Amino acid sequence: MAERFAYLNGDYVPERDAKVSVLDRGFRWGDAVYDATRTFDGRLFKLHEHVERFFRSLRYARIDPCLDRAAVTAFCEEVVRRNEPARRAADGDYILTMQASRGLVGGIYSPSESATPTVTAYCMPLAFATHARYYRNGAPVIVTATRRTPPESVSPRAKVSNKMNHFQAEFEAKAADPDAFALMLDTDGNIAESSGSDFLFISNGVLRIPQRRTHLTGVSLLTAVELAEKLGLETDEGAFTQFDLYQAEEAMLTASTYCLLPVVKVNGLALGDGKPGPIVGRLLHAWSELVGVDIVDQAFTRA
Ligand SMILES: Cc1ncc(COP(=O)(O)O)c(C=O)c1O
Repeated sequence: MAERFAYLNGDYVPERDAKVSVLDRGFRWGDAVYDATRTFDGRLFKLHEHVERFFRSLRYARIDPCLDRAAVTAFCEEVVRRNEPARRAADGDYILTMQASRGLVGGIYSPSESATPTVTAYCMPLAFATHARYYRNGAPVIVTATRRTPPESVSPRAKVSNKMNHFQAEFEAKAADPDAFALMLDTDGNIAESSGSDFLFISNGVLRIPQRRTHLTGVSLLTAVELAEKLGLETDEGAFTQFDLYQAEEAMLTASTYCLLPVVKVNGLALGDGKPGPIVGRLLHAWSELVGVDIVDQAFTRA
C-alpha cells in the first residue's frame, strides 16, 4: 500500500520518517499547540478557521512557528494532496493535524533565548469503526469528578498539546462505563466540555451552549450552532449545571472527527426517550448537505 506523507520542518517525508528529538520541549513537557480538521471526500473542512485558531493558540503559548498563515495553509493542503488518491482510497477520509512545539530550547523557557520550533502536519485515518454505532444508538456521558482546568490557570480556549486534564476525565468515565464519554464541569460546577469534543444540549426546544470561556469552542460547535439557527432553532449561551442538563430533551457531542454524535444518557439517566433525538438527526442531515458527504452512511460503510 502507498505510504502516507507528513510535513516536518519544511520537508514532506514518509510518515515513518517524521521523527522528532526526545529533547524537543513538545515531547518533554507538552510545550506545544495543535489544531485539527477533517476531510470530506478529500476536501479539508473549514481549514481557514482551524489555521486562525492555531495562530491564536500559538500566540497564547508564545510559540513563533517562523511561518505565516499562508505557509501553514499551504503545507496542510499539500499533505492532503500528497496522500491522494491511492492512499486515501484505502483510508477513507482523514483528520489532519497541524502542530508546533517550542522545539529544542534548553532549560526553563526564556523569551530572550531563540528557539527553533518543530512544525509538522500529518493525516490520520478517521476512526469510523469507533464512532459509527453512536450515530445509531446514541452515546452515554458521565460527569466526571475531574474538572476542566480553569481559564485562570490555562485557558481552555487554547488548543494545547498537553491533554492530561482531559485524559484524567476520560480514564474516570471509561472506568465507570467503557462506552461512555466524559463530561467535564468547570470549577464552578457548570458544564464545560468533553475530553475531545464540545457538548451542547436542547431543553424546551432551545439549543444551550456552555459559556465559551471554559471550553475550546470548536469549529464543529460553531458549525452546529450555525446549522441550528438556519433550522430556526433559538440558541442560548450560559452557565448551565447538571440540573439544567437533566431537564434536556436531547444532547450532543461535537468534534471535527465525527462532527456530531447524539447523547442519550447522562450519569445513567435517559434524556428524552433515550434514543437519538429528531433535532440532532436534522443537524446531522444539514451537515451532510453542507459538505456533500452522508456523514452517517460513510461511517457505517467504512466501519
Ligand atoms: C477539548 C476539546 N474540545 C473541543 C474540541 C472540538 O473542536 P473542533 O470542533 O474544532 O474539532 C476538541 C477537538 O479536538 C477538543 O480537543
